[in-house]
Amino acid sequence: MANVYTSADQIDFTLKELPAMPVPQKVMMVKPTYFDVTYVINPHMSGHVGMVDTIQAGNEWNSLLDGFKELGFEMVVLDGQEGLPDMVFCANQSLPFCDERGDKKVIMGIMYTPERKEEVPFIEQWFRQNGYEVYHLDEKKVNAFEGMGDGIWHFKRQLLWGGYGIRTSFDAYEQISNILDVPVIALELKDERFYHLDTCFCSLDEKSVLIYPNAFSTEGLSMIHALYENVIEAGIDEAEKLLAVNAVAPDGKNVLIQRGCTDVNNKLLDHGFNVHEFSTDEFLKSGGSVFCMKLLLW
Ligand code: ARG
Repeated sequence: MANVYTSADQIDFTLKELPAMPVPQKVMMVKPTYFDVTYVINPHMSGHVGMVDTIQAGNEWNSLLDGFKELGFEMVVLDGQEGLPDMVFCANQSLPFCDERGDKKVIMGIMYTPERKEEVPFIEQWFRQNGYEVYHLDEKKVNAFEGMGDGIWHFKRQLLWGGYGIRTSFDAYEQISNILDVPVIALELKDERFYHLDTCFCSLDEKSVLIYPNAFSTEGLSMIHALYENVIEAGIDEAEKLLAVNAVAPDGKNVLIQRGCTDVNNKLLDHGFNVHEFSTDEFLKSGGSVFCMKLLLW
């Protein structure tokens, strides 16, 4: 039975009651060979068509790859495809899942914009060859679902935080909740600058989350506060211009984040996280940073 929560008073579980989810050990990245800004599908891309320094982008991508390697992650590197400049943002085409027994499943995305639809089969092929049970949403009922751009796992728990309203339809979460048998906390997004949940919500560890609060409705914020002890807030400048919240804490301890997020970094350090800064300047021109340039896997 689908379990999609839309207000704090509906929450009828505690985190401890939810089955565990193993910490990911692998990280997928897609080579930036064909990365560019050639169209505008989010406000960050506007004014940046043709402005990407591809050599610099390649260097930034390599440094991020090394950052994950240094933390001990096994890297899965896929080739980019000509004509699909946004495929490098490989958090968006799928939602991988692993249960407490180690069974792996993946729900493939339905991209909202025609420009990105052809990316999905390339990513799906990897899952088919690597032991994941592959699921598709019913396209008659669901208009769009942009994978881990909008669906974010609670650290170590089988609980999904699901953004909807801009790139993902609310209806996606009923199907996802049924397929994976997990509860989903649905968070409405309305501000186009924060078009994916991963631009305003970063799951840090079981008790902590980093958010840009103004991207959420009152109901959304109250659900976040109901389940997280530590809600760390980013200010508008770092959240919008540096996509500070589009960071990742793959092991619940080390945070990889765009460089220069001084205020957010101080708050993360105060909460005991290690901060690793990377330049993703070229990718910011497309509206993406660290979180969406990778996909966590098992
Ligand atoms: N240009 C891409 C798009 O608009 C950027 C995606 C960044 N991904 C993310 N999860 N925020 O689709």
